Amino acid sequence: MVVSSAPGKVYLFGEHAVVYGEPAVPCAIERRARVRVEERDGDALRVHAEDLTLDGFTVEYSGVADAPDVDVSESLVEAAVGYIDGAVAQARDAADRPDAGFEITIESEIPLGAGLGSSAAVVVAGIDAATRELGVELTPREVAERAYQVEYEVQDGQASRADTFCSAVGGAVRVERDDCRAIEEVPNLPFVIGYDGGAGDTGELVAGVRALREEYDFAAATVESIGDVVRAGERALSDGDLEELGRLMDFNHGLLEALGVSARSLDELVWAAREADALGAKLTGAGGGGCIVALDETEGAETALKYTPGCEEVFRAELDTDGVHTESGGDGTQ
Ligand code: MEV
Repeated sequence: MVVSSAPGKVYLFGEHAVVYGEPAVPCAIERRARVRVEERDGDALRVHAEDLTLDGFTVEYSGVADAPDVDVSESLVEAAVGYIDGAVAQARDAADRPDAGFEITIESEIPLGAGLGSSAAVVVAGIDAATRELGVELTPREVAERAYQVEYEVQDGQASRADTFCSAVGGAVRVERDDCRAIEEVPNLPFVIGYDGGAGDTGELVAGVRALREEYDFAAATVESIGDVVRAGERALSDGDLEELGRLMDFNHGLLEALGVSARSLDELVWAAREADALGAKLTGAGGGGCIVALDETEGAETALKYTPGCEEVFRAELDTDGVHTESGGDGTQ
């Protein structure tokens, strides 16, 4: 039996535009998904998942997944099952054990579809645990590459390497197409996260931006402008200039809003944080509902968000410099 965990993340800058070759800077946060894998006889999978805001589901299947009976949109559940199937397929491939069966338990502190990289964290931790259970040890970069293949398939070919690379290596990273690297010198980033309790469908949201981009030159230019914001953000990050970072986060949110991926609930949380004098605030991840991230060294944004109608949860998030790692089994630990 092996348990591996991997962190979720927020986007300081660059979601959506990264799908079209612009750079992005996601940052891993100290909220993790844990996946426990035990090989079982036969080729079937038995998957238990709790705390995915799916109300918990257990599903047993071989090959094609039966949709579990849970109270969230079918596409979210299909995606969740697709990610798990994909992680298992990658582990079987890496270990050259096409018929390996597994008992898998997933626990996640990261709400599903809320922009905090829950699916990437589950896939990354799942591949790590399942390969180790079969006696194969992959580097975090190898896990990231395999996890990207899974996201790419589940999101119909519309995925970047940003979420999976960030979750696999931890810390703040820069991703531009297949050039993925860690950012070494990062100032203390006082992230405050507000969660509206909702979720967006990444595949649908990415498809919406793609359609806009194909229809309007100004939408394509908006995507490129996000790339310019990211490049300016990288300079502010290396200067440790938090005020400039906040200003650029505001700008990034405006451009995402123009691309139609925000939501009234997200805009309300963003404005609550700004009016409480946060340095900046933006949605994080695919959008449509879920989380915003604000930069605030004071208590202001956290307190304001707590009292904002429609804000289900507020928390401070520390940068997590630990990427995927084994928590027990697989590497000789208990
Ligand atoms: C989703 O967390 C981030 C997007 O940029 C999609 C991707 O990068 O694959 C919207």
